[in-house]
Amino acid sequence: MGKITAAITGIAGYVPDYILTNDELSQMVDTSDEWIMTRIGIKERRILKGQGKGTSDMAMHAVNDLLRKTNTRPEEVDMLICGVVTPDMQFPATANIISDKCGITNAFGYDMNAGCSSFLYALITASKFVESGSHKKVVVVGADKMSSITDYTDRATCPIFGDGAGAAMLEPNFDGLGVVDAIMQVDGSGRKHLHQVAGGSMYPASYETVAKRQHFIYQEGQPVFKAAVSNMADTAVEIMQRNGITPENLAWLVPHQANMRIIEATAKRMGIKKEQVMINIERYGNTTSATIPLCLWEWESKLRKGDNIIIATFGAGFTWGASLVKWAYDGSEKA
Ligand code: UT7
Repeated sequence: MGKITAAITGIAGYVPDYILTNDELSQMVDTSDEWIMTRIGIKERRILKGQGKGTSDMAMHAVNDLLRKTNTRPEEVDMLICGVVTPDMQFPATANIISDKCGITNAFGYDMNAGCSSFLYALITASKFVESGSHKKVVVVGADKMSSITDYTDRATCPIFGDGAGAAMLEPNFDGLGVVDAIMQVDGSGRKHLHQVAGGSMYPASYETVAKRQHFIYQEGQPVFKAAVSNMADTAVEIMQRNGITPENLAWLVPHQANMRIIEATAKRMGIKKEQVMINIERYGNTTSATIPLCLWEWESKLRKGDNIIIATFGAGFTWGASLVKWAYDGSEKA
């Protein structure tokens, strides 16, 4: 039997109904559609409304749809990893809650927090279980309710983020399709520029942490921007070069959707055309762990078996990475 690779055999996504437009945001903070479009490239984002609704409620929709599309019974899933920075609770893991809500009763799983890189980190981790032969149906979720940690009085961060969920099925493949290569890197010294101060063991929730608004995203935009451009572009170019990928034989770049200018700079460094890049930031904003699966879900019908796809990401930590994936099926058959 030949080498096992981990192929994506299905993809699904979910975004909540409520649309928060730039015009509505402009009534909440001192900003404008023009500033947000020029500096970030976001027109609107989705927000999960409803008391007691968490990340798992969006992920549940995506996973249920994934199981339907891949003709998988929930009991057949043997592992579920959830990439997330806004878990339902500090514990237990959101992966457990999603599994329970979807009837996945024969699996083990856990959460992975790598900032906005969580989905790619989860995908690569899951691929190792498939490649080893130990697991045969692995669900990889990327989901975040960023509105739960976004300060809607802070104009520097509130236009950026939105809510959403995506899920991919990973299964063994014997024709070299699926995850081919990956480069992943962290640099913890970058944490000072992007973090959530309170709510962890260092600064547990207190009246003081709430009064100081320390449960929201803290971001210094410019250093994060610079690190995102250089690291995402560097790793994407490196993964191209070491796998013989050229602008001509690359089908798609799937970049993390943080800022249109970061996406454009990465594509330029790779020497590829904008038409080769999956971009939906204008409609969903930065959904953190969900950006990449939401792109794959939306583009699924255009994907062809054997397509070379590069996934590139950057997030809090700092974390970053890129992966080469050979798409495993004709998307139009499932989308
Ligand atoms: O996904 C995780 C990784 N995160 C990222 O990749 C985010 C990376 N950073 C960015 O995308 C950009 O740095 C931001 C979009 C966050 C900010 O854009 P910028 O071009 O770096 O703006 P800036 O922070 O340098 O601010 C420029 C000006 C400032 O005014 P002054 O000091 O020049 O008078 C800000 O106060 O723009 C002002 N500003 C705004 N004006 C209108 C900041 N936010 C807004 C706003 N509306 N929403």
